[in-house]
Amino acid sequence: MDNSLQSRAETTLLEIFQSGRPLVYVRSAEERRVANLLTAVGRHLSAPDSVPLWTWSITEGLRAGADDARESVDGSAAGQTRATDPLEVLDFIAAHDAPGIFHLKDFHEPLRESARVRRRVRDLYQICFDRQKFVVVTSAVREVPEEIERNFAIVDLLPPDVAELTEFLKSEADQIVARGGKADHDEKVLHRLARTLQGLTLDEARHAVRRALAVGAGLGAESAPALLEEKRILTKRSGVIEYIADSTDIGEVGGLENLKKWLLERRQLFQRRETLDADIVPKGVLVMGIPGCGKSLTVKAISSYFELPLYRIDMIEIFSGRHGQPEGAFVEACRTLESLTPAVVWFDEIEMGITSTDSAGEQGRIFAFFLTWMQEKEPGLFVAATANRIDLLPAEMIRKGRFDEVFFVDLPNDDERLAVFKVHLSRRGVDLSKINLSQILEFTRGWTGAEIEQCVISALTTARLTNQEITTDSLVAAALGKVPLSLAMKEQINHIRQWAYQRAVRASPGAVAH
Ligand SMILES: Nc1ncnc2c1ncn2[C@@H]1O[C@H](COP(=O)(O)OP(=O)(O)O)[C@@H](O)[C@H]1O
Ligand SMILES: [Mg+2]
Repeated sequence: MDNSLQSRAETTLLEIFQSGRPLVYVRSAEERRVANLLTAVGRHLSAPDSVPLWTWSITEGLRAGADDARESVDGSAAGQTRATDPLEVLDFIAAHDAPGIFHLKDFHEPLRESARVRRRVRDLYQICFDRQKFVVVTSAVREVPEEIERNFAIVDLLPPDVAELTEFLKSEADQIVARGGKADHDEKVLHRLARTLQGLTLDEARHAVRRALAVGAGLGAESAPALLEEKRILTKRSGVIEYIADSTDIGEVGGLENLKKWLLERRQLFQRRETLDADIVPKGVLVMGIPGCGKSLTVKAISSYFELPLYRIDMIEIFSGRHGQPEGAFVEACRTLESLTPAVVWFDEIEMGITSTDSAGEQGRIFAFFLTWMQEKEPGLFVAATANRIDLLPAEMIRKGRFDEVFFVDLPNDDERLAVFKVHLSRRGVDLSKINLSQILEFTRGWTGAEIEQCVISALTTARLTNQEITTDSLVAAALGKVPLSLAMKEQINHIRQWAYQRAVRASPGAVAH
């Protein structure tokens, strides 16, 4: 029996078996992972030796061992075609006179289709009880017919935790070395890589390791960026949580000095979270304001500033119905995030799902859940929510104590527009000493940061086309004739401002822009 740290999933299954429940329904698409877990649990059960695993599927029938142990088990044809019929395998289990864990893949279908199968399963409950015989149904969907639901212990397999991922990396490292490759076995390194993989399924993690091997010399500390990149691609596929890999330096955000100063202080507190009182540890920030003024940019900067990975929750996806009921999808996303600590979690345009017609229904429940979750979540998650239309949000959301602070990002004032111009010009290699920026300010009143960036791009494009350097005049020319959105949206902007002045802290010091 190995005495390594037990994973959450293994502990759960072991406890169910030890409590004597013979029928377990595991909802998970990761059959291989379940097989490994069951093998490990079987070792812990020791009755008197470890309890062996049997695997069944409709195509392969019943065989001893897990699927990937196929080569090592005697591959006799007889063993491979036994009991392809669902009733037959249940009969086999009933008659089997020794301890065993029987892994039945995709057995939800026979359960649904056949009353005889359901009847036989209920018999098995009695037959297996206290006999060290366990029947484990796995399926990617949770679909247990009502009449047998109470016979089953039902388990939703969460993504693997750090302990399980570390174990996984150890065995990957062994295999890599066995194949003649290079792999670091250092516990600390593997643990750190395991943290990098958190949030992925084991199948995805395996894929990430393959990719890291393809681009690097082996598995080790230097594999982290490749694993992270794979994670970005994979989390994207989940559709709701997206890993954001591009990092933004806080110096790339022009202006917003109040907000930056606040972040500087919070960073310190957040980094000391293990030793501080829970109510001092920063929980998160709500940044609201006029579109195009740097809210998203700031959140990206927070993650690199805090030196943490950034995950973005897409509220539009949540409410799209593509991931099941919005409430369920949202709750699941929040739970998954807990396994990704430490991290910055970004709820982008959090008001997106809100329509005025349903504030009491599903949306109300989602926001109520969100606020409770904010209070109870892992301290290692820093929440950054952004909103354009904060007036749509429920009042509880803005109330003090939910978020540590609510910031309002306004149109940039003179100093800030100057700073934004500098950011975008110097990023594109323009020599600032040759440009008189103060001259441009009067042409760009009421502009957003995004509009300033567009102006720089358009002036640069013209300059490149004519093979000239960008000049003050060419910038002014690009600015002239552009009508800022804020002019067309004057009413809305005044509305947002008036609303925000009473309820939020200004992200920038100094006077209001006009
Ligand atoms: N304060 C700013 N400093 C530098 N660039 C900015 C600023 N505000 C906006 N931008 C530019 O405009 C783009 C869009 O801004 P974004 O942060 O997405 O706005 P929003 O507030 O709508 O989330 C940014 O990627 C950046 O290039
Ligand atoms: Mg945005």
